[in-house]
Amino acid sequence: MRTLVLGGTKFLSREIARQARDRGHEVVCAARGLAGDPPPDVEFVRVDRSEDGGLAPLEGSFDLVVDVARHPSVVRRAVEELAGRVGHWAFVSTCSVYADFGEVNQKLHDPLPADADENDPENYGPAKVACEQIVGDGALLVRAGLIVGPEDQSDRFTYWVERLARGGPVLVPGSPADSVQLVDVRDLAAWTLDAGQAGLAGPYDAISMPFGRGELLAGIAEGLGVEPELVWADQEFLTEHKVEPWMGPRSLPMWLPLPEYAGFLVRDTSATLAAGLRVRPVAETARDTLTWLRDSGHTVSRSGLTPDEEAELLRLLA
Ligand SMILES: NC(=O)c1ccc[n+]([C@@H]2O[C@H](COP(=O)([O-])OP(=O)(O)OC[C@H]3O[C@@H](n4cnc5c(N)ncnc54)[C@H](OP(=O)(O)O)[C@@H]3O)[C@@H](O)[C@H]2O)c1
Repeated sequence: MRTLVLGGTKFLSREIARQARDRGHEVVCAARGLAGDPPPDVEFVRVDRSEDGGLAPLEGSFDLVVDVARHPSVVRRAVEELAGRVGHWAFVSTCSVYADFGEVNQKLHDPLPADADENDPENYGPAKVACEQIVGDGALLVRAGLIVGPEDQSDRFTYWVERLARGGPVLVPGSPADSVQLVDVRDLAAWTLDAGQAGLAGPYDAISMPFGRGELLAGIAEGLGVEPELVWADQEFLTEHKVEPWMGPRSLPMWLPLPEYAGFLVRDTSATLAAGLRVRPVAETARDTLTWLRDSGHTVSRSGLTPDEEAELLRLLA
């Protein structure tokens, strides 16, 4: 089986390339090579998809193409430039295609208009809707939720791993019953390949079933072999003290304000689980994430509170 990974130089697409190689596929990764290196023992073709004809260096046909792109113009170019040479498309999309985070529904954003700014992060959801429409109904649409695990540079889940491993009282947001959802990058890669190889088509929300924040933290603690002292801070306190939700500086990652985001981390993904997605226990993801953190020397800096910020907030709560 000849598999083209459009990407392959970082996180999810690199993991997909690695696993496809381990399954015995003939793997071609196509990227600029700026984000990182592809996994060993795959063919790497240097391309720049921002230019017309950018995929010209790719020769031959492919049984499966996996694309992780975010920009409609780039996806359209790939569909046109590879026309007639692709057995099946698997497009990695996102749960951010859903228009209303306040309640669970299937309503999508309108696709990003052709003259809109694809690079504006605010346009991420509409851009992915446009990408989905370009690859079409015959493609597998992998609507990923929060992707976590080794090599994740966003520090959302990794913050909690590093924080619980560090010890001492831990400031945690919201309540133990708050819903969270995630998927380990290795499980998402495995299912994308399984579903792509099987020729599955149409949209699938690719993430765990919802579970509680208390369970999340307990799972991380179990994986690390620690017994953390959790200090819960409610939404009013966090908002009042300018703690940011979800990610970024001065944030408590994976926390979202309610009711504004009441529909975001509660999606019923039983159809995808029935179609074979297996999400490993949080404890296993946490343990492997800590191993990667220590081996790679990665520093958690993109999301979370600094030790000083957390200590100050804990003092105010005491
Ligand atoms: N992280 C999450 O929690 C999350 C949640 C939901 C959905 N998703 C989706 O999951 C996917 C994550 O993919 P990923 O981990 O592989 O990260 P990514 O940042 O989406 O990777 C982009 C890939 O495309 C390549 N690329 C970028 N610009 C290019 C260009 N002009 N020409 C050729 N190649 C180019 C990059 O390599 P070079 O820079 O080396 O060219 C890289 O390999 C994305 O589709 C994202 O939307 C992520």
